[in-house]
Amino acid sequence: MDVHVKLERVTRKYDGITALREVTLEVKNGEILTIIGPNGAGKTTLLRVLALLDEPSSGKVVYRGQAVGGSNISQLRKKVTMVFQRAVLLNETVFENVAYGLKLRGLNNDEITERVNDALSSVMLKGFGPRMAKKLSGGEQQRVVLARALALNPELLLLDEPTANLDPTNAAIVERIIGGLRGRTTIVLATHNIFQAKRISDRVGCLLGGEVIDVDKPKNIFTKPKNEIIRKFVRGEFF
Ligand SMILES: Nc1ncnc2c1ncn2[C@@H]1O[C@H](COP(=O)(O)OP(=O)(O)O)[C@@H](O)[C@H]1O
Ligand SMILES: [Mg+2]
Repeated sequence: MDVHVKLERVTRKYDGITALREVTLEVKNGEILTIIGPNGAGKTTLLRVLALLDEPSSGKVVYRGQAVGGSNISQLRKKVTMVFQRAVLLNETVFENVAYGLKLRGLNNDEITERVNDALSSVMLKGFGPRMAKKLSGGEQQRVVLARALALNPELLLLDEPTANLDPTNAAIVERIIGGLRGRTTIVLATHNIFQAKRISDRVGCLLGGEVIDVDKPKNIFTKPKNEIIRKFVRGEFF
């Protein structure tokens, strides 16, 4: 599989805090890569760097063979979408919420309607367009947030703890939607739910104290941990 995006010795510091330390990581085309790690491990920072929203303090981001920086950032950013952990919906209809980013990109009305309807179908909210987004249940709102991201047709989708605040039923629905994108959209998702990581991932990366301590197939990470740290990690002893 080809590499979609690559980090080379990326360090990201905030004032005195090193959120990422010398992270080298390849994300492959079309895979679902899950980043697991306790609170404060650096998961959100890693996603923000991959989403080209945050620049490394040192090190390099390479997107489809192209070193990211300077003049190409704004053009590459259009190919990448991040769904934030506490995503905010507009006090508007579901349709308007999903259409928002498309309007900013200047698509025409027919294209917008088609993309919004496709995105709503793919999150199983067909027919929800006219409803007020903020009146929906938490699970439905999370699916609107996902639809808003999908409508942009990103090549690379970053999801920050997409099911953290959902009940098991809605979490399962969101997981199914994510699984359905496998192979078409490259996905990096952060979670501290190791069961979810087991179910959904092509590969799992373990992040601890800003360092990637292992990346491998879930089978290897969870059943044949390389060392004592990973073993403790997947048993949840760091969480
Ligand atoms: N904007 C910021 N300013 C200062 N410190 C930050 C900022 N964002 C993250 N950090 C710090 O960086 C570390 C990693 O945070 P984060 O990437 O949010 O981890 P996670 O998502 O795994 O919980 C934490 O110590 C956090 O406090
Ligand atoms: Mg986080």
